Amino acid sequence: MKILVVGSGGREHALVWKLAQSAHRPHLYAAPGNPGMRSLATLVPVAADDIEGLLSFAREQKIDLTVVGPEVPLMLGIADRFRAAGLRIFGPNRAAAQLEGSKAFAKEVMRRAGIPTAHHATFTDLSAARAYVQREGAPIVIKANGLAAGKGVTVAPTLPEARQALETSMEQRLYGAAGDVVVIEEYLEGDELSVMALVAGERCQLLLSAQDHKQLLDGDQGPNTGGMGAVAPVPWVDSALLEVIRSRVFTPLLAELTRSGVDYRGVLYAGLMITREGPKVLEFNARFGDPETQAVLPLLQSDLVDLCLAVAYGTLEQTPLVHEPGAAIGVVLASAGYPEKPVSGQPITGLEDLPLETLVFHAGTRDQGGQLVTAGGRVLTVVGQGADLEQARARAYNAVERIHFSGKQFRRDIGLRSQRIR
Ligand code: AMP
Ligand code: GLY
Repeated sequence: MKILVVGSGGREHALVWKLAQSAHRPHLYAAPGNPGMRSLATLVPVAADDIEGLLSFAREQKIDLTVVGPEVPLMLGIADRFRAAGLRIFGPNRAAAQLEGSKAFAKEVMRRAGIPTAHHATFTDLSAARAYVQREGAPIVIKANGLAAGKGVTVAPTLPEARQALETSMEQRLYGAAGDVVVIEEYLEGDELSVMALVAGERCQLLLSAQDHKQLLDGDQGPNTGGMGAVAPVPWVDSALLEVIRSRVFTPLLAELTRSGVDYRGVLYAGLMITREGPKVLEFNARFGDPETQAVLPLLQSDLVDLCLAVAYGTLEQTPLVHEPGAAIGVVLASAGYPEKPVSGQPITGLEDLPLETLVFHAGTRDQGGQLVTAGGRVLTVVGQGADLEQARARAYNAVERIHFSGKQFRRDIGLRSQRIR
């Protein structure tokens, strides 16, 4: 069996690592992949957003299954193109991926399905948006409607900050066309949680709960990033809460999509706020979360190839999804200057003999004449596994201390917030 993984980050390295353990003994390809995957997969020099290039590669090589990591190829319709060409692909088509690509679409589907989410209004006109913010008061949340690489959301504690966010998006057009339409949302208070599910039409199976740490600095301070670390599973999440999330979010959402003729196939990520009134949806992503996936997949006992095939064949219910006991924690090592202006080209050392029960997933790395160097903002995700979060944390940070590159930035508190009793 030949499997192609699309993407080049830590999430995709984790996918390649997990797929490589399959009983199907697949030959793996990664496009474009990264140096960390080299021992597991053949790297293919085709960009993740080059849909035609990926399609011709998959056709020529007779790829049996393509697994898509990032959102951009999904928005560009990679799944539609592959399916139309008779190629098996794990990832939603363009219409279904709008759940991530358009916040206004996601809100509309949630409204029709009766899914709990923040109250909101959508604006294309700056003065109407200003007037609304004035009426609602602060704190309030301003979101660029389209894809803005995780930067389009402002949680504004005060009215001037809210007005500033509207101007940045609609007047200065910092996010381009993605910010011409804004969604203004009620501020929700609670604990954030990520839950991913494998989805085939109306059927779904939940993966372990996880928690991302989006801010750069300890104590959730500093600018927002693509994610500085993750834990799985979240200790305060029990099966009763997961059942509520399944029955109030996933089941009605998938029923509504099916009703409106959208067939979702792939992984669906729900970003949730667990409020006093229960879980409310902050966002959907049409793909695996990064860095959540790096913590979740090491705890997945089931064969990921079987699960991806079950999504394609619609046999998800008959395919067991079993997790290992214990916990995992992923700590992101980022470059100096991240997230604004990451410095690249720094030699990376210390990856040779890492402690037991740790894994290192590459993201921004490059091979420079046999020397591994940094190449981007988020460089590595270092994952520790253990009987509990405490042990997983100790292992992850032990490995973190052994890995070196100039300007290495990381948070020392990944998982501490997750352990707090709610
Ligand atoms: P999003 O990209 O929509 O997940 O938003 C990025 C981050 O902004 C989330 O992870 C939350 O921390 C925060 N956020 C988004 N929407 C809200 C909301 N309605 N209330 C409070 N915080 C929010
Ligand atoms: N960890 C959040 C995301 O993948 O969007």
